[in-house]
Amino acid sequence: MKLLKSNLSPQTIATHICMFALMVYILNSCEEKKEKNIEKDFIAQTPKAKKFSKKEYEDRGKYLVEIIGCHDCHSPKKIGAKGPEAISELAFSGYQANKNLPELNKETLEKGWMLMNSDLTAFIGPW
Ligand code: HEC
Repeated sequence: MKLLKSNLSPQTIATHICMFALMVYILNSCEEKKEKNIEKDFIAQTPKAKKFSKKEYEDRGKYLVEIIGCHDCHSPKKIGAKGPEAISELAFSGYQANKNLPELNKETLEKGWMLMNSDLTAFIGPW
């Protein structure tokens, strides 16, 4: 209100408002540009996902299966120099169908135990 009572003409006030709006617009667009550059820099600095060859995928899968311990239950074993070891030619073939399962101790099973054979390829439990 005080501004309107001053000696400034309506044209001068309108010009100042326009200048102010223009400044706000320019400052804002500079800020946006800065943000876009930060985003671009970030994307440029991010390492690209490596494309694996078929062989690299297979090696990676083999490595994961070995370190996670899938052979522990899915491969028949023999006793080696350091104890039980997976028989490589029978890897992931599980319990051998041509072998009879050891005799089952039902009494132990009924007490809530889970049973497994000596090379961990056969399990029996309350399920
Ligand atoms: C602690 C023992 C154990 C370990 C270790 C284990 N499994 Fe199993 N797995 C089992 C049992 C028990 C079953 C169920 C078998 C059944 O239903 O007759 C099973 C079932 C499976 C099945 C389904 C097979 C089918 O015919 O439906 C797959 C696939 C499988 N496991 C993969 C894996 C992989 C991969 C790993 C390693 C990351 C692994 N398992 C580790 C015990 C194990």
